[in-house]
Amino acid sequence: MNYQEAYAKLEVADQLHVLKYYEELSECEKEALLTQVEATDFSVIEACKKENIAVEKGVISPLAAMELTEIAAKKEFFEEIGVKAIQNGKVGAVLLAGGMGTRLGSDDPKGMYNIGLTKEVFIFQRLIENLMDVVRATSTYIHLFIMTSDKNDEATRKFLAEKNYFGYNPEFIHFFMQEMAPATDYEGHVYMESKSQISTSPNGNGGWFVSLKVAGLLDFIHAEGIEWINIFAVDNVLQRIADPVFVGATIDAKASVGSKVVRKNAPDEKVGVMCLEDGKPSIVEYYELTDEMMNAKDEKGDPAYNFGVILNYLFSVNALENMFAGDMPVHVVEKKIPYINEAGELVKPETPNGYKFEGLVLDMIHQLDTCLPFEVVRNKEFAPIKNKTGVDSVESARALCLENGIEL
Ligand code: UTP
Repeated sequence: MNYQEAYAKLEVADQLHVLKYYEELSECEKEALLTQVEATDFSVIEACKKENIAVEKGVISPLAAMELTEIAAKKEFFEEIGVKAIQNGKVGAVLLAGGMGTRLGSDDPKGMYNIGLTKEVFIFQRLIENLMDVVRATSTYIHLFIMTSDKNDEATRKFLAEKNYFGYNPEFIHFFMQEMAPATDYEGHVYMESKSQISTSPNGNGGWFVSLKVAGLLDFIHAEGIEWINIFAVDNVLQRIADPVFVGATIDAKASVGSKVVRKNAPDEKVGVMCLEDGKPSIVEYYELTDEMMNAKDEKGDPAYNFGVILNYLFSVNALENMFAGDMPVHVVEKKIPYINEAGELVKPETPNGYKFEGLVLDMIHQLDTCLPFEVVRNKEFAPIKNKTGVDSVESARALCLENGIEL
């Protein structure tokens, strides 16, 4: 793209300030900026102009989860199905590690965070150790696809290689990068990261399947005969990955997706809750829950919207491929965005200063026909690390690890 073309594109998008320093740039920087302008989809920014308009929800009704007692009664049956699927190479796993982890406040990829107390225990290590439990139990390595972003790809690959993939067979590890989206101030003007670079951030975890495809890995998945993909967040250090019982239950239910859920610990707990929306599986965010829904009861007298999602889903590859009919919604998220100020100096803000634009996995669920919410024991499988201290933090996750006999 040449300067005139870039100018025209930015003028339409109301982002001409991107070219403010153009004349000061070296030839190489000029070219890099023009290439970035060409590659950037500014249309996502429209979403922040609609920010205060509540997303239209359809008719919400409860979606029953498979609860612990039922799972316990059929454990062996499900496990056998799951183990067989894993041993037949039908199960892969995707680690969503493209996020910036801004709340944790480390410049390194979140997985490199050391939660150890007396020895090093990295977040990535915990996840791989959890997956290794299944590898050992089934005598089968599971293909692990790791999604990174432009911001952390190099550091992630380097770290895992240096650590010998924490004992995982590298032939079964595949990296791919997600797409980026521009980040803006509260008026929807993109921030500049440097004089020749628009501030960007990863475009949310909802882009994982498209990015996997773009990277050519869907062809690999077909070639390997993988039929189920367990996607999971980088920050839950206790979660079971490719858990044979969960795999078996989802296959047995013939669901398009299985979703691990935990029983909410309070009606107003801040987790997304599984439900049906216009008869299709969906997730209501905590801020969308009405009082009526919070107090609704099922036929057993239990809360009707009682199970929160933990970002651990088992998707049918077939269902995913038939799914992408329309555009996914863009979510506007308030975050801390580094930028250059009027003087051209880089500022790293202490508090949120603008918007990032993200697609979310939970919107994929609503595009599928059937979902099995599968209950797991909260204290055994849910230790998310979002913050340094307090709720969902390094501290709370450490306590849960110790409670589960994991040495730190
Ligand atoms: P979070 O919603 O916690 O976002 O991600 P984050 O960017 O990691 O952290 P904060 O909000 O800045 O503190 C949940 C999961 O989705 C992944 C994260 O890596 C994490 O596993 N994710 C998030 C991506 O893979 N890509 C993204 O663009 C965003």
